[in-house]
Formats: sequence, C-alpha cells, structure tokens
Amino acid sequence: MKVLMVSSEVFPLAKTGGLADVVGALSRTLVRVGNEVALAMPAYRTIFKNGFQLEETGIPVEVSIASRRVSGMILRTWLGENLPVYLIRADPYFLRDGLYGNSQGDYPDNAERFTFFSKAALELARKTAPWNVIHCHDWQTALIPVLKKIRIHSYPEIQKSKVLLTIHNLAYQGNFPASAWSLLNLDMQYFTPRYLEFYRNINFLKGGILFSDAFTTVSKKYAIEIKTTEYGCGLDGVIRDRERDLHGILNGLDYKEWNPETDPHIKKNYGDQDLDGKKSCKKELQEIYNLPPEPSVPLIGMVSRLVDQKGLDILLEAMGDLLRLDLQFVVLGTGEERYEKLLAGLCHSHPLRLGVKIGFDNTLAHKIEAGADLFLMPSKYEPCGLNQIYSLKYGTIPIVRSTGGLDDTIEDHNPLTGTGNGFKFNTHSGHALLEAVNRATTLYSNTEAWHQLMANAMACDFSWEKSAIEYFALYLQLLKTPSHPLP
Ligand code: ADP
Ligand code: GLC
Repeated sequence: MKVLMVSSEVFPLAKTGGLADVVGALSRTLVRVGNEVALAMPAYRTIFKNGFQLEETGIPVEVSIASRRVSGMILRTWLGENLPVYLIRADPYFLRDGLYGNSQGDYPDNAERFTFFSKAALELARKTAPWNVIHCHDWQTALIPVLKKIRIHSYPEIQKSKVLLTIHNLAYQGNFPASAWSLLNLDMQYFTPRYLEFYRNINFLKGGILFSDAFTTVSKKYAIEIKTTEYGCGLDGVIRDRERDLHGILNGLDYKEWNPETDPHIKKNYGDQDLDGKKSCKKELQEIYNLPPEPSVPLIGMVSRLVDQKGLDILLEAMGDLLRLDLQFVVLGTGEERYEKLLAGLCHSHPLRLGVKIGFDNTLAHKIEAGADLFLMPSKYEPCGLNQIYSLKYGTIPIVRSTGGLDDTIEDHNPLTGTGNGFKFNTHSGHALLEAVNRATTLYSNTEAWHQLMANAMACDFSWEKSAIEYFALYLQLLKTPSHPLP
C-alpha cells in the first residue's frame, strides 16, 4: 500500500497538539508493518531551527492563488530509514514562529497559507505518483479532496488514488470570509450551501467531508457524537448525510515515546513490576513546582491547551473547593489569556497546593505523566485525547469526563469488584468534577486498592498496531469501491 499522509503538523518536526503525535506514530506503524508511506507538511521555521537534516529534492511546485502564480520548493527529511517527510517550503507563508498564529491570534492569511499548502501537496502527489491513498488530516488539508475531484484534469496522475480525511477536532473548520474565495480558483457554483458555503463563509472542512472518498474521526464515541447537534458544530447535518462513509478509529499510543521504563525525560525509570522510580519522579515534580515534598499527599497533574474544549470553565468553578482538599495540583499549559491569568493568580494565592507553568514544554509534560498520581481531563468534548492514554501507561490514574475518546478508553473504577482504570464523571459541572476527585483521593489513601488500580491501568494496551490495522482495512476497502461521486 502506498500512502501519502498530508498534515499541518508531525511530531517530532512541529507540534501544537495530539494531531502531530498521531500522524507521526500512525505513519511509523504503517511503515513497520510493510507499507510505503511518505509524509507532507509545511517547512516551518521551527524545523530549520531544530537542526533536522534537510535535503533538496529538486522538485519545484508552482500553483495558482487567485490571479498569481506562487512557487515553492520541496525539501526532504527522514523519520527513520523508510519514512521520508516532504517539507513544502514557501518562506513568506511558513517561515514564522507559530504554526497557525501568535499571541495576537490566528494569522490573518491562514486561508491563503493552507490553500497554498493543499494545492502544493496535490502537485507533490502528482509528481511522486502513484499513490493508493492520500490521507489528509483536519481542515488545513481539507481542500485536497475538493480540488482533486473538481479539477480532475489538473491531476491526472492521481485520479485513481483514494482520498481519506481524518477529523481530529470538528470545532476547527477553517471558516473564512467570502472574500477569500478567489484564492481557491474554483467556480462560484461551489460557493453555495450545497458545497463549501457555510452561513455565507467558506468552510474548508465542510468541503473535505463532502468530497473525500471516506472520512474518519479518532474514536468510536466521537464518531457517534458528531452526528448530533450538541457536538456537530453546525456540520452534523452534512455528517449525517455522509454517515455511511464515516468511521471511528481510536488513536493509539507510541510506546517508544511514552513509556516509563525507557523515558529519557524522567528522573528514574520504572515499570509495573517495580514502581519505586515513580516516587523519585513525584519528588522531582514537587521540586519543580515548589510544592512541599510530601510523598503521601495525592498529586494531580494536568497538561493541556488552556481552551474551553478542555473543561477549564468547570475546573475553575471547582477550584476553590479543590484547593481545600488535602492534595497537590500541577498544571502545564498554554492557550487563552484569561485562563492563563486566572490559573497564574490562583497559583500565587495557593503556593502550597497549586503549581502552574504557562508554556509548551515536552520534557515537563513527560515529568508530569511520571510524577503525578492522578491526571485530570475534564473536557467538554474530546475527540480522542492522548494524555489519558499516556497516563495509564505511567500508572497515573486518569480522572475524566465521559465524552468522546475519554469515554472509550477509561472505565470507571468499581469499588466492589476492583475493576476499572480511572475515574469518570458525566455531567459537565464543577460539582461532578469535584465528586470524581473526591472518589479518587479517598481511594488513594487505601494503598492496596490503589496499587490494584495502578496495575489495571498499566496493563492496558493501546498500541498503534491495532489502530493501524483498522486504517489499513479501510484503505483496502476504499481501493475496492468506486470513487465517491461529485456530491
Ligand atoms: P489536543 O490535541 O486536543 O490538544 P491530546 O490529548 O490529543 O489533545 O494531545 C495533546 C498533546 O499535546 C499531548 O501529547 C500533550 O502532552 C501535548 N501538550 C499539550 N499541551 C502541552 C504543553 N503545554 N506542553 C507540552 N506538551 C503539551
Ligand atoms: C485533536 C483532539 C484530541 C485528539 C487529537 C489527536 O487535537 O482535540 O482529542 O486526541 O486531535 O487525534
């Protein structure tokens, strides 16, 4: 199987969230089981700064953006011997500090940047054809199926390829004003509610859903949720119309990156047979956050984008009561300024209970997974969520709201049978969150029961192989069926 994976971020080259981890790990796994995979992503400044070995490919790309011809170059780097990454270089678009924006917000030319990226990726696909599947991810690449299907004569080399779109987060749709339409160089008939128009705006993701041969999302539960008005972000009708082609495939975990037995970022390695190292990791984490070095006070960790999706509203609602409990709490995150400020303020007034670091820090994220006893994810919605899966492997018990992938991966602890791998609550409220934390900290004081719960968690297996097989089966199915016709 020859797969071209197109994404706006790929770990370890550039990452703002779980998308990067997933695209990197899925590609590596597909290669390991014998497929031919190449990745395509923008050549951001961070890639040049971080010393990756870059080769010139000599492949030129030139595309139309409105009435202009815009050219770029293709560089290449490798994630392992058999996994090339094509980096689409166009410095005016991508040689910037952020991937999508800066502290003032999203870059104002994101419509143009990712229209260019999608058109350039199609050129690249054409010039490196044949591909069985072009696998796109999120709104940044959602124009690929649209352009390939409508501008059929521009891409003859890849007309037999099937296009799969994976939605990692339906809330991010690439919604742009009508004035951006000319960038796409598509006929006005496609700027109608039947196609890419969405309440007078252009909606890239809507186009991707309509024009891809099939689309997936990253857990079975989220695949069900996005067909409802509550979770559908306005696109539930479009999704329901294509529900036969929608599949939920749970993300896996890259045990090479996230494994307490081998993790180079943590104070002392440990595993399910020898938990001793976890105590040193906890001590180090308390030091980093200037918290009292109490070994027996439960320590809750959180690593998160600080945005509404992640349930910051109910966390702040519960915070007053939370900080009165006998526990410690550490947070690492960046995001909306109001949440950053509120958390930093609370940290200032409760220095013995709460530690907050605002920033993006991969090493610290690993230290939190290893050093905390509990990991909190009170998300309003969560397509999959990776941190709760990492937490399980580190014996760090997740406390989650039962939504999307959190619901699919976490089984509530049952005090009668000792089964389960975490704590779940259902209602999106500070009260429900607090009640789950109370259940968790109460169990924490029962050492025997707690060790049983840690053992249950660490025994869970979410390795990528299982998910990669599901993607592979879907690729095969796509190859056997005729292309989805023009909608
Ligand atoms: P999302 O993609 O919605 O942000 P996920 O749980 O799927 O949520 O993935 C988040 C990923 O990003 C995890 O690997 C997590 O460790 C990482 N991450 C999030 N915020 C930070 C941060 N401030 N510093 C370091 N890593 C972070
Ligand atoms: C998105 C989602 C998250 C998911 C990740 C990777 O960012 O918010 O739930 O785990 O993509 O698929």
